[in-house]
Amino acid sequence: MYKYIIHGQKKLKGEVVISGSKNASLPIMAASLLTKEEVILQNIPDLMDIQTMRQLLEMLGKKTVFENNTLSIKEIDPSLYEAPYDIVRKMRASIAVMGPLLARKGQAKISFPGGCAIGPRPIDIHLRGMKALGTDLLIEHGYIWAQAKELTGKQMDLMGNFGPSVLATENVMMAATLAKGITIIEGAAREPEISDLADCLISMGAKIKGSGTSIIEIEGVKELGGTSHTIIPDRIETGTFMAAAGTTGGEILLKKVNILHMEEVIEGFSKAGVEIEILSQDSLVARGKNIRPVEIETHPYPFFPTDLQAQLMALVSISDGTSVISEKIFPDRFMHAAELNRMGADIKVDGATALIKGVKNLSGAAVMASDLRAGAGLVVGALAARGKSEILRIYHIDRGYEKLDEKLRKIGADIERVPQ
Ligand code: EPZ
Repeated sequence: MYKYIIHGQKKLKGEVVISGSKNASLPIMAASLLTKEEVILQNIPDLMDIQTMRQLLEMLGKKTVFENNTLSIKEIDPSLYEAPYDIVRKMRASIAVMGPLLARKGQAKISFPGGCAIGPRPIDIHLRGMKALGTDLLIEHGYIWAQAKELTGKQMDLMGNFGPSVLATENVMMAATLAKGITIIEGAAREPEISDLADCLISMGAKIKGSGTSIIEIEGVKELGGTSHTIIPDRIETGTFMAAAGTTGGEILLKKVNILHMEEVIEGFSKAGVEIEILSQDSLVARGKNIRPVEIETHPYPFFPTDLQAQLMALVSISDGTSVISEKIFPDRFMHAAELNRMGADIKVDGATALIKGVKNLSGAAVMASDLRAGAGLVVGALAARGKSEILRIYHIDRGYEKLDEKLRKIGADIERVPQ
């Protein structure tokens, strides 16, 4: 187990190259199960969730080789179809192998994903979609046993109580690529990661229209071939560095970003007082100016993302007024608030809304990461805090950020990774 030691109040200055998107990489890796041919993926970030998904693919009969952010996935044994508890409990995105397994092998045995720090994380929408395509489901002993002699295309609505589901849209879209006939998904999620998956599937021979909108049409084909695909940049990592520029009053040149995916994020952080200068479609400069209070709600794409809520909260905790942040996706996603209060923030959580009364300074303290983005929020806070902070359980951060401490040290942060 490792922890971060951070001495705050260093102005960050320099350039950071943004890594490939974790949330695009994971479903696209799962999509390799749809073909027996080799799939080569470039710009894959080197982080823990990628290693976990590699382990899972190897348990499902694939051989993977990963070097210099390029991943090659080849088929060794097409007969395997079980995703065990030990892997699924570590990473909920494992559920994304269900669609490909059902489409290619007609069966899947997947441990029922548990909850995590940000909420119960149900999969009812996934199961609704698979049933609509003709899958028989049995849930017993903590596993989902799914069987489908043949998947048949259907019109369905995947909207849930909290809006569309990213992974459920991806799961059903992948299953539908090899189903008989046409599938129409209404209430589809519109995240850029879904469009990246669709582009990859199309390069494998799938017939998909409408990805990135709330209605996606998939015409099933007989089989899919191999491909070579480059993963889009990570918009959440990009936003995390915007917040870090804000809390340290620094100036960071962010490279290999995709501005088109960042409209509402740029809007949100600009409102909070981070000056964002767009240099080109794939580069921008983020400068910390005087941080201002904001009123923001998280919503499905294209609005402000829940995955940047903790980082924004850390930023506005040192503004000169009171901010209101409402979580419309994961109402319990506020574990980081109490930890920021340990650093001297003044945050009150009331249900799915947090009231953040800005304070002059945060003070360094020992705090604990509870999930990936909460951990990132605590790093953003610690970079601003006076004195020394310790951030424990940074395995959460390692799951979703590639070399975060290295990238921060390169632009002047005093951050060290030491055994806990
Ligand atoms: C994806 O998770 C992301 N993960 C999450 O990022 C992200 O926070 C989330 O989308 C929302 O944008 C990956 O892409 C690997 P959802 P996902 O299904 O697909 C409810 C990170 O930090 N829901 O879009 O699991 C759900 O409870 C991670 O990188 C159901 O009710 O999220 C939530 O309230 C954390 N039934 C809402 O929908 C279902 O069957 C949106 O969840 C599925 C979801």
